Amino acid sequence: MSLDLSREAFDEISSQAERLVFEYFAHIAERPVMAPNHAGKTTAAINVELPLEGRPLEELIAECRTVMDLSRHNGHPRFFGYVASPSTAIGAYADLIASALNANITCWRSGPAGTEIEQLVVRWLGSLIRYDEDAKGLLTSGGSMANMIALLIASRRKTGVEASRKGLWNAGPPMTIYASEEVHMSMAKAADILGFGRDQVRVVGCDEKLRMRVDELVSHLTADRDRGLRPFCVVGSAGTVNTGAIDPLNEIADVAREFDLWFHVDGAYGAPGVLDQRKTDLFAGLERADSVSLDPHKWLFVPVDAGCLLFRDSAAAAAAFSTEDADYIKRHGHADDAAFAYWDYGVELSRRFRALKIWLTLGYYGVRRLAEAISEDNSLAAYLGEIVATADDFELLAPVELSICCFRYVPPNLRGNDAELNRLNERIMAEVQKGGRAYLSNATVNGRFALRACITNFRTTKADVEETVQAVREAADVLSH
Ligand SMILES: Cc1ncc(COP(=O)(O)O)c(C=O)c1O
Repeated sequence: MSLDLSREAFDEISSQAERLVFEYFAHIAERPVMAPNHAGKTTAAINVELPLEGRPLEELIAECRTVMDLSRHNGHPRFFGYVASPSTAIGAYADLIASALNANITCWRSGPAGTEIEQLVVRWLGSLIRYDEDAKGLLTSGGSMANMIALLIASRRKTGVEASRKGLWNAGPPMTIYASEEVHMSMAKAADILGFGRDQVRVVGCDEKLRMRVDELVSHLTADRDRGLRPFCVVGSAGTVNTGAIDPLNEIADVAREFDLWFHVDGAYGAPGVLDQRKTDLFAGLERADSVSLDPHKWLFVPVDAGCLLFRDSAAAAAAFSTEDADYIKRHGHADDAAFAYWDYGVELSRRFRALKIWLTLGYYGVRRLAEAISEDNSLAAYLGEIVATADDFELLAPVELSICCFRYVPPNLRGNDAELNRLNERIMAEVQKGGRAYLSNATVNGRFALRACITNFRTTKADVEETVQAVREAADVLSH
């Protein structure tokens, strides 16, 4: 009853899957960014009966092709929505190898090699952001999970570990978190999940570059402390999701020290931007953070899922998560390194071997080549910024700090009419997305609806940027008739 395959059957799966993957990578730029689609179209195009008997491989691969055709292509050179990047062949094959091995990286004992590769990769990621040699951390499903883990560690540092038995609230007045109005939504969500409450995330205003105003941060902190509340964490952004703004990290680090706060930096999107030497200074102070989120599945071109939380004090992290409650996970008779367990540092018990694809991606391309790709993305966003800032029919809505450009289409008759411009640009975005030539998402910048291009893509060229601008103009034209 073995499910193992003959050599011939194995080769057949390999060659058909390999062809599918090769064709996908080779021809992605010729596809529409998103083919016309509607809810239910995919399931209508494939066999949905529960297969009681196995089906021919050709049929399954053909349906797989349908699934790929009906997907949105995040690796297309003109996909600029949200924060999404192309995968690579080495990353895709790394996932294949990890799945074949099927190691479960719960702890060293369960996945000895995988655990050591993860520890190595985390050290590498730490060194990219100039964390000291001793940086520790863990890979996560993504930035949201990394941010939530950071918040729990931060809170336990304040309350002590007993809070895990009593509940966070029993022991005192509300615990408060500080972040700018531009911080990613995952912070408020984490505050909610962990029981602090969304309202306990104090929203700090931003300056004209959409960076946290540190004077306002201090005012909030002083007021809350005077009211007897318990401030415990300040979150800086190293690349906000809306505009790519980088908060004044050094100044925030000073405030964190003064008020005895945990300093977390959300660099899920932007932290790899430090590798662009023209931008390095913007990140000054990042290395002072107590913890940093950085997603290799965003700007290091590693396939989803690959997030990472880095921290300097692993004892603080372990204090937040360690449990000896469950008998079956007790570590018997192991020396320190071999007793290492990821369940002491995060939420998950079963964990994929995520480190393999990061290790192979870094090893195959090297940091220099990845840094060039990142720098090129920054240059392309700046190029788009120049186009829209100098054109009569466009307006740049935020400074282009990293690889995000926020702008809007402004026909002469609507100049100064924000309400109408908001409506028009919302419709333009939908029209562009529907057209399949390019894909922009949106952001609200100072109350204005912005078309937002986030370029985290090594395939994008200047011609793609120009074609996207053209697609916006044509969408506007269609809507005006
Ligand atoms: C700045 C920032 N933080 C956190 C996240 C959440 O990351 P994930 O989607 O991997 O959970 C994002 C996602 O775009 C982000 O841009």
